[in-house]
Amino acid sequence: MLEIQSKAIRIEEHGGPEVLQLVTVSVPAPQGNEVTIRQKAIGLNFIDTYFRTGLYKQPLPHGLGSEGAGVVEAVGADVRHLKVGDRVAYGQSPIGAYAEVRNVPADQVVKIPRGVSFEEAAALMLKGLTVQYLFRQTYRLQGTETILFHAAAGGVGLIACQWARALGVKLIGTASSPEKAALAKENGAWEVIDYSRENVVERVLELTKGKKVPVVYDGVGKDTWLASLDCLQPRGLMVSFGNASGPVEGVNLGILAAKGSLYVTRPKLGTHVATYAKLKAAAAELFGLVAKKQIQVHIGQRFALADAGAAHVALTNRKTTGATVFTLD
Ligand SMILES: NC(=O)c1ccc[n+]([C@@H]2O[C@H](COP(=O)([O-])OP(=O)(O)OC[C@H]3O[C@@H](n4cnc5c(N)ncnc54)[C@H](OP(=O)(O)O)[C@@H]3O)[C@@H](O)[C@H]2O)c1
Repeated sequence: MLEIQSKAIRIEEHGGPEVLQLVTVSVPAPQGNEVTIRQKAIGLNFIDTYFRTGLYKQPLPHGLGSEGAGVVEAVGADVRHLKVGDRVAYGQSPIGAYAEVRNVPADQVVKIPRGVSFEEAAALMLKGLTVQYLFRQTYRLQGTETILFHAAAGGVGLIACQWARALGVKLIGTASSPEKAALAKENGAWEVIDYSRENVVERVLELTKGKKVPVVYDGVGKDTWLASLDCLQPRGLMVSFGNASGPVEGVNLGILAAKGSLYVTRPKLGTHVATYAKLKAAAAELFGLVAKKQIQVHIGQRFALADAGAAHVALTNRKTTGATVFTLD
């Protein structure tokens, strides 16, 4: 196969949304373990902004994005589970998803089940597989728990609300406006705290009748760290999985003893889908809930790839709800 010309977003330096440039790149034939995907939709994720600013570092210049969906256009010699023409999606990949055409290691790629659109798949893979490991692996929820989940109206958040409802778990969400709080409730949150106005610790104490929660899922980071610890029962688990407000730094481990022999973990999706077998099992659970309509994809915003900068501004300015996708013809 000859090289394919593709439009793609590149950054040459770290910085604000202005560093995102739409350029034309050459996509080589896939290597033995890769497939070439002509993409139909690409998922926007908060992690993309960390790579843009340099909070997470990769050698420059580089592309952006880890999540997408499209049609297989070419298959490497060693790939067994995919063929040309398959509708596929992925949620973990070497960064570079913001592109019309790209090569992806096949062990990160699954077929999209019938009935799920490209846009839905691109909105689900990274965020939905994250909820899968948070709820089914990091702290395996049994269905009897009351939990705290920050930024419940966001991309990961709205899937978490629905997954918790499906499990019978009472999810206390947080959100920064009444509109976002209402959306989280519509999607299955048991209660929502408006953390722009209300005291999270006091409200969690009230809602749990003084018991607090066994696990907190915190993708907000710096701003919520202390309150999250104070919402935990003795020996509870703090799952710090993101930095939307900035990274948690300079922690004295003694604080975990002082607040009740707490546990902390800082997980990432890559560890949980490190092999095709793990990815396939996690995706099967996710798409099983989608097939039963227990999880429905909420795409709150759509952008053209050329407007990637505007999409980043909307996300970091807290103007988005649910998932955001870039659409391609
Ligand atoms: N470790 C992993 O495996 C993994 C995987 C996926 C995502 N994540 C993390 O999960 C979090 C959610 O990701 P997402 O892509 O679904 O994003 P998102 O939740 O759609 O957007 C982030 C949300 O965080 C809230 N937020 C609180 N303080 C903020 C601040 N200072 N600036 C911006 N937003 C703030 C906002 O909701 P309110 O306005 O309601 O406060 C905002 O909408 C991110 O931290 C991301 O890095 C981690």
